[in-house]
Amino acid sequence: MKSYSYINRAIIFFKTIAAGTPFLAFILLSAFLKPQSEETLQSAAPFPIGAAVNPFLLQTDSAYRRVVETEFNSITSENVLKWAAVHPAENKFDFSKGDTLAEFALSHHIRFHGHNLCWYQYNPKWLSSFKGDSAAWERLFKTHIQTVVSHYKGKVASWDVVNEAFHNDGTLRSEKNTPDNKPDDGCIWARNLGIDYIARAFQYAHEADPDALLFYNDYDQEIYPGKLRSIINMVNYFKKRGVPINGIGIQMHINILTPKDGITNAIKQLANTGLKIHIAELDISVNPRNDPNIIYSDSLQNLQSSLFAFVVQQYKLLVPKEQQYGITTWNVGDADSWIRPTYKKKDWPLLFDDSYAKKPVYYAFINALKN
Ligand code: G3I
Repeated sequence: MKSYSYINRAIIFFKTIAAGTPFLAFILLSAFLKPQSEETLQSAAPFPIGAAVNPFLLQTDSAYRRVVETEFNSITSENVLKWAAVHPAENKFDFSKGDTLAEFALSHHIRFHGHNLCWYQYNPKWLSSFKGDSAAWERLFKTHIQTVVSHYKGKVASWDVVNEAFHNDGTLRSEKNTPDNKPDDGCIWARNLGIDYIARAFQYAHEADPDALLFYNDYDQEIYPGKLRSIINMVNYFKKRGVPINGIGIQMHINILTPKDGITNAIKQLANTGLKIHIAELDISVNPRNDPNIIYSDSLQNLQSSLFAFVVQQYKLLVPKEQQYGITTWNVGDADSWIRPTYKKKDWPLLFDDSYAKKPVYYAFINALKN
């Protein structure tokens, strides 16, 4: 937005006094002292800056909405396009909440990134009791992907097609008893569709909307080299086979103890695939050891600030411009972060506080975006 420079305004102010119109000069002085149009994340960044958004908060919390409207030029659906939300019964789709986000994105001329078409979690109860042969499973899978992608054709710019298909050791989620040793960690899709379901998910999504950019999205790639390697191998194999994949989401749920060299290594190696790179779910926990007495001290905020800045710097340095799909934070402020309810701990992982005011880490982040 254009605004008069301070020098221009000072010249007009003194000329007005000299012309003997002090009242007008007073009004001009007030304008002179008013802050210039404020810089925001989206205006400072050389690539899109996003947040995972909850349509209920968007409609009910004015501070939340104001931050989303002013700071971000990309939104990701946090939960409302996941299977359990969008496909609540075998023959029923519910697009109402996703449509709220689509309309918001369209009316604000910002990007809408869809999350996600296929995951081992957040699936509806009816799905686990679905009975059918492999053709019936395939039909169900294809119908879901193509119904959802077609509904948002022209409204959703890009999709996390498959989310978190690998265990941390780099093996594919496919069995009930898994290396991560959690009962729900096996992947319903690999078990019922075979391990090539990932490639077919991309193919089905592409058929439904050839213009949408298609991403594979996963976490902890900066910590587990086996997982990082498997993802890179899969992507390279897909490229060779002509599977329509356009990008990789590095979730980047990290904490103040996350080693920096792992972050650098993951960004560098993933960028080497030549695909678009989306830092897709960024947040930085300051309480990785789950200390119930923790205080969000200046020193914790400083550590967090320098890591937020580091992530931005590495992204700008290591990802070629044409591959920079942007940086998205997972949620908007500390108040709506998934970390508190999930781990039942105190934490302050985001750029905005519990009232959606800018935190010191916000300024570290925006400075890194600019410099
Ligand atoms: O809506 C119900 C509410 O009615 C109920 O009272 C409440 C009680 O627990 O649960 C509410 O649902 C919760 C939902 O979030 C909405 O808040 C679910 O229990 C909870 O499991 C769900 O968590 C989401 C999680 O994915 C699902 O596994 C988080 O909000 C969401 O931020 C998180 O996002 C994931 C990404 O999709 C993939 N990468 C990791 C990221 C963080 O886990």
